[in-house]
This record gives sequence, C-alpha cells and structure tokens, in this order.
Amino acid sequence: MADTDKPWGGRFAQPTDRFVEEFTASVGFDKRLALYDIQGSVAHAKMLCKVGVLTQAECQAIVQGLEQIASEIERGEFSWSVALEDVHMNIEARLTELIGEAGKKLHTARSRNDQVATDLRLWLRDQIDRIGAELKRLLTAILDVAEREAETILPGFTHLQVAQPITFGHHLLAWFEMLSRDAERLADCRRRVNVMPLGAAALAGTSFPIDRFYTAALLGFERPAANSLDAVSDRDFAIEFLACAALLMTHLSRMAEELVLWTSPLFDFVELPDAFCTGSSIMPQKKNPDVPELIRGKTGRVNGHLMALLTLMKAQPLAYNKDNQEDKEPLFDAVDTVLSCLRAFADLVPNLQPKRENMRRAAERGFATATDLADYLVRKGVPFRDAHEITGRAVRLALAQGGDLAGLSLEQLQRLSDKIDADVYDVLTLEGSVASRAHYGGTAPAQVRQAILEARRRLSL
Ligand code: ARG
Repeated sequence: MADTDKPWGGRFAQPTDRFVEEFTASVGFDKRLALYDIQGSVAHAKMLCKVGVLTQAECQAIVQGLEQIASEIERGEFSWSVALEDVHMNIEARLTELIGEAGKKLHTARSRNDQVATDLRLWLRDQIDRIGAELKRLLTAILDVAEREAETILPGFTHLQVAQPITFGHHLLAWFEMLSRDAERLADCRRRVNVMPLGAAALAGTSFPIDRFYTAALLGFERPAANSLDAVSDRDFAIEFLACAALLMTHLSRMAEELVLWTSPLFDFVELPDAFCTGSSIMPQKKNPDVPELIRGKTGRVNGHLMALLTLMKAQPLAYNKDNQEDKEPLFDAVDTVLSCLRAFADLVPNLQPKRENMRRAAERGFATATDLADYLVRKGVPFRDAHEITGRAVRLALAQGGDLAGLSLEQLQRLSDKIDADVYDVLTLEGSVASRAHYGGTAPAQVRQAILEARRRLSL
C-alpha cells in the first residue's frame, strides 16, 4: 500500500515505520515557526500570481486560507499531526482541506528546503529585534544607576585584591560598554540574517519565471540570497547569532557573579530586593541571590547551543541535509534564555540598593591609594621604580600599626622620603584619588557624568 497520507507518498510502496515517523518529525518544535511560515507562503503566492504562475483567484483563495489558518493557530484551535512531519506540511495540508485544488498549487517553485531556511530567518530577525529592545531597557537602567552613583567610591579590583579606588558609576559604565558591544554585534548579525533563501527551491533554483526581488521586498528582506545551494544549506547566520548570544550571556554571567560577590556578607556592597531572592529551608538567616546565580548558570546552556550548531554544520556536504532540522531547538532555547535573563537583569538593576558606607570602608582598608602615593613621588622627581619601593615600605609600616596610608604621620612618611610634604594627604584620600583620574575614560565623577551623557546619546541613535 502506498503511503498516500504523505505529501511525498507517491514514490513509496510501504507506509512509514511508526517509530521512524516520530523520529523524523519536527512538528513538535517547529510549529513555533508557524506564523512566519504563513508570512513566507503569502509572499510566495503573491509573487507567483504576479509572474502569472497562479491566477488572481487562486492567489486570493490561498491568502485567505492562510489567514484563516493563522487565526486558528493563534486561538490554539489548529490540530497538529506528527504524520504530517513538520510545520510546513501541516499548514499546507490544512490549506488544501480548506480551499481545495488551489492549496495544492502553493508549493509550486518552492521546496521545504528554501521554505524552512526562510522561516528561520524571518523568525530570528524578529527575535533579534526583541532582544535588542530588552537590551536597551537594561542599558538605560544601568545608566540611571550609574548617574546616581557617580560619586560613590568603592575599591576596584585586580586578581580580586583591592587595587585602586574607583567610582561605582564608573564600574557600572564598564557593564554598559560590554553590553553595548553586544547590541552592536547583534545589529550587525541581523544584516546577514536578513537575506532571503526563497527561490532556491530544493537546491538548484526553479524552472518557473519567479521574481525573487519582489518576494524579498514583500518580506522586508534586504535581498535574495545570491546562490541557491548556499541559501538552502548554510546555517552560519544562526551560528553567528549564537556566538553573539553566548558572548552576551558571558557578559551577563560576569555581572551576575559580581552581584553574587557583592551581596555576600563578606563584601556587603549591595542589597538585592527581597522580591528577587529566596531563603533557605534550613538556615533561617539566608537570603540567596538566586536570580544572578541562575543567570550565571544559564550561560552554560547558550554556550552549549553554539557548540551544538557549529558541530551540526561541520563537514556537511552541500546542499541541504536533514541534519539541519537539528538547528531549531538549540536556537529556540538560546533565544528564550537570553530574553529571560535580560528581562531579569533589567528588572533587577533599578532595584539594586548600594551600601555606600561599606564600599567606602573596603576601599580604605585595602591601601587603595598606594598608587597615588607612588605617582605623587614621581611628580616630585623620584623615578617610578624608587617611588614604588618607598610606597611599598609605607604600606608595610601602615600594616604594622594597623591603619591605612592616610593614618601615617608626616614624620613617618618623611623618614621614607624627604620629597614628601604635607600636601601628600590630598592624594591619600579616596576622593583625591578618583578625582585625579579625570581624563577621557577615567573614573573621576566629572568624567563619569560626561561618559553618561555620551552613552545616552549613543543609546538614542
Ligand atoms: N523539517 C525540515 C527541517 O527542519 C524541513 C525541511 C525538510 N526538507 C527535506 N527535504 N526533508 O529542516
């Protein structure tokens, strides 16, 4: 018996094995592309009508039928069939059920190979726009907090050891820069996503007189893909997106890690709102930073999805191979993960409660102004290496007497170097230290305010 219930059943003498049917089907996940599939089909039908392959009446019936299917899907009334394998054949079968003969003509000059590549690009283009909007919300929130904290002093770290005093606003602007590069990368990636495979058909193009530029214009694509084999086979646009997403998640994980550290009682630099934390079922004192921890953890999934698609594509001969059906689930999950992590971060950041006193005390404790003392000596004519040595001795002295550098008396300091005068205390204060780094890109409050202005201008472009 021929497998007559399959759109490709003509050539088959045996029905598909039950397990194989399940194993090869993608409708369970690719139904997520349904509305994009319909959008692509509507444009394809209009193009076929324009070039005379479909009549006006056929085209109208197809478009109306597809609109009805879209509303059935949106209302959750569409019944999906695994026997019909994927989203494309499910929709096509329903169309034929609704409008008869004309429905069977829709697939003229098209293959599921160019169809699926088109659907995925249309879908991803929209997701990049959604991610861009959420990213912008987070970037704006970061700038607002940076503005409030332009003068707040905390230690900056290298090797997680206290290094030099910085302003909290400056630290947040570092987050801003990291994420704004991610936004740029995504915008750049979008240009390569926004190219149309339709018309490539199975792999070699079609013998019908199609107008690919017309279809591309209807779908808002920048242009049709230049080579039919490449159009149906490559998924580099998805890999590139995942690389952008993995980097973005890597940045979010670094920010999340800092929140985890800062909320530890050992740092105690910020408080997270209760609404973003959970407690422990056994330790009553605990308030855990679950949201940042989860964001940190979810980075692994997205990095994994990037590896999955790189490996999927590796060594695939041209053109389309069924392997490519495996591109969707990693991509879907990566988009869901990125969107939810961005949403969580954008909601969290405006509600961070900085503990300014604790930040300040940590900067005082850690000899954060040691470099400033060395620079002071250099300005008085001491070579930098000697200044470094003298300052090291000053730190040892302060450690021995259990205070900070500003706690050393003038006599003590002058015993270390006769170049030191009473004005040394100006550079040993935290305020003096940060204010002196007033060049472009520096941590001085005035510079931070300037950087915020510039950042706001960039964001509004
Ligand atoms: N479900 C398939 C996919 O996701 C659609 C393309 C199938 N093409 C084919 N020749 N079997 O890749």
